[in-house]
Amino acid sequence: MIFDSHAHYEDKQFGEDRDELLSSMRQKGITKIVEVGSSIESSKRAIALTERYDFIYAAIGVHPSDISCLNEEGLARLREMARHEKVVAIGEIGLDYYWDKEPEVQERQKAWFRRQLKLAREAGLPVIIHSRDAAEDTLTIMKEEAAGLPGVIHCFSYSKELALEYVKMGYYIGVGGVVTFKNARKLKEAVAELPIERIVIETDCPYLAPEPNRGKRNSSLNLPYVVEAIAGIKGLAPEAVEEITYRNAMELYGLA
Ligand code: NI
Repeated sequence: MIFDSHAHYEDKQFGEDRDELLSSMRQKGITKIVEVGSSIESSKRAIALTERYDFIYAAIGVHPSDISCLNEEGLARLREMARHEKVVAIGEIGLDYYWDKEPEVQERQKAWFRRQLKLAREAGLPVIIHSRDAAEDTLTIMKEEAAGLPGVIHCFSYSKELALEYVKMGYYIGVGGVVTFKNARKLKEAVAELPIERIVIETDCPYLAPEPNRGKRNSSLNLPYVVEAIAGIKGLAPEAVEEITYRNAMELYGLA
């Protein structure tokens, strides 16, 4: 049993075969998926997807690169969506300075990040954090706004020291296809240090397919490669990694 803690099946790359693919998941051992929104529109679609598949849950939120779609009205829409029975998290939210280098844009990202963390607290939901090239500001804001709030640092890309710092704060660390890449030394080191009880697995599909399918469209069906890589690093049986990370994700999203 595998839990994909972060997927984007509403992406247009799944336009041709979405239903066929999702209908095949259960018999291939993928028994739970969280569909993650990144804008108001994709959050709405994530909820609609959960209404078609009982094993799919939704996260709703606006990605830092999509905040131009956010205003007070948009935030009110999110607040309303957060009450849906299959919404299990607020996300993905955070900071991304890789694409946005202008200080003014970064200030806007920070402001909406804070507002959405507050929304998660109000709604009593965990958070899914996206953070790229913004390690310091993310940690500062998390310390100020997110103390005691459960959640996951998704597609973790920073140092092992920072991973352990987030674990100390009570967070889970999301590990996906990158852990199978030859050049992913930093992430492999972090996985080696992290307690397995704090790791959840994810695809971030259609992106970040693991080896040997790197560069192709990703899906939850590739997760056994991620499980195998983590098992190798931790010296555990793949079945144990599957079972523990499944339990972790159930706990993270309040499904346990
Ligand atoms: Ni994502």
